[in-house]
Amino acid sequence: MGLSDFGNTVVGVDINEEKVRRLNKGKSPIYEPGVEEYLHRNLQSGRLRFSSNAAEGIRSSEVILIAVGTPMDTDGTADLSFVYQVADTVADNLNEFTVVVTKSTVPVGTNAAIRDRIAERSGKDPERDFAVVSNPEFLREGRAVQDFFHPDRTVIGYENEKAKEVLVDVYRALNLISVPFVWCNLETAELIKYASNAFLATKIAFINQMANLAETVGADIHKIAKTMGMDGRISPKFLHPGPGYGGSCFPKDTQALIKTGEQFGVDMSIIKTVVSSNSYQKERMVTKLLQLMNLSDTDSQAFAGKRVALLGLAFKQETDDIRESPALLVAKKLSELGGEINAYDPKAIENFKVEFPNVQYFSDCYSAVEGVDAVMLLTEWNEFRSLDLEKIASTVRSKFILDARNLLDITEAQKWGFTYQGVGR
Ligand code: UDX
Repeated sequence: MGLSDFGNTVVGVDINEEKVRRLNKGKSPIYEPGVEEYLHRNLQSGRLRFSSNAAEGIRSSEVILIAVGTPMDTDGTADLSFVYQVADTVADNLNEFTVVVTKSTVPVGTNAAIRDRIAERSGKDPERDFAVVSNPEFLREGRAVQDFFHPDRTVIGYENEKAKEVLVDVYRALNLISVPFVWCNLETAELIKYASNAFLATKIAFINQMANLAETVGADIHKIAKTMGMDGRISPKFLHPGPGYGGSCFPKDTQALIKTGEQFGVDMSIIKTVVSSNSYQKERMVTKLLQLMNLSDTDSQAFAGKRVALLGLAFKQETDDIRESPALLVAKKLSELGGEINAYDPKAIENFKVEFPNVQYFSDCYSAVEGVDAVMLLTEWNEFRSLDLEKIASTVRSKFILDARNLLDITEAQKWGFTYQGVGR
């Protein structure tokens, strides 16, 4: 869709025919702000279409983008089976000089492996007949459109000058708005992506640990983070404390990086600590809730029969994605403790229902909080910032709020009689 908007003719291929059918009608399979507007516009222009015929898509294209998932395998490594399936289909349908671009996040060495695999299977020459390019994607869910059209940088790992020329043409629109292009080898491009995600995850884990200390000693983490960020070397971004990072990228990419370190015998202890402290942070939300409610965390019966409203199920705002969301762990632990859950999220309820069919779901915050013993805010949806606490105070059974995203005004919460706890303040 974005590449088509740049003026390229694009065919999006997926084996899921239902998805293809919906996309051809301009319907996005996920909730992503702004995406359908671009879909419609580009379908109408005639430059974009979707198909389930991979062979035809490959044969008719000069550039192939591999953009399939690389989910976490049971041992933490990235599962590359989808990537290699696509590479094999490409190999079986190569005709003229083709540039095979990997958009999927893949461990270092994968692009070279794709090149060798295609060469072996097709009998074609990886210099003359095709070229492999590593072009990692840095867009964020919920901001995909903005990030795609205005990236901080475009990274292109390549080994063939002809492929470079093709990519310059594909991304000409970004060049026109002076987006920096980083040209490097395949391995560097692959590692840039992992290093960036792991570093951002590290910033979050760091500020969460500082927040835990701040709340224990009576300091304010927001003042701390803001002031740290005034130092240009640190930057204020990704220093917002919370219930731990989730999503489809940070958890899987940090694990995969640890595995890469093991594979090459290189110490990845910093990332290992980030991963374990992030798990701790998610669990800490449950401990904090019990403490807030003055319940013992050693008495397994203490929480039995309590009803909690979970506001926010998605791993972050503006998405319906619940992968690795802190809400999953919180719901699981609270259920294990014998608690009952009311849940509300503006977009993620259908996805959460698949994992937790027995939770009670509501179509707005105010019905979700009726009669509950505590309210937990887990996702930073904007609508939670302006909750009517007076109204909530009049319907809950007990006035406890655990605000895991620091969205509410403490004084306002206290004014309506809530016992309030945030993260790091
Ligand atoms: C991330 C990267 O930002 C993006 O560049 C990459 O392409 C994919 O992975 P995404 O997972 O969509 O994007 O969301 P992001 O905004 O990075 O947030 C990830 C998690 O960190 C969320 O759970 C979010 O709530 C949490 N987070 C983020 C914090 O807890 N604090 C912060 O300051 C920032």
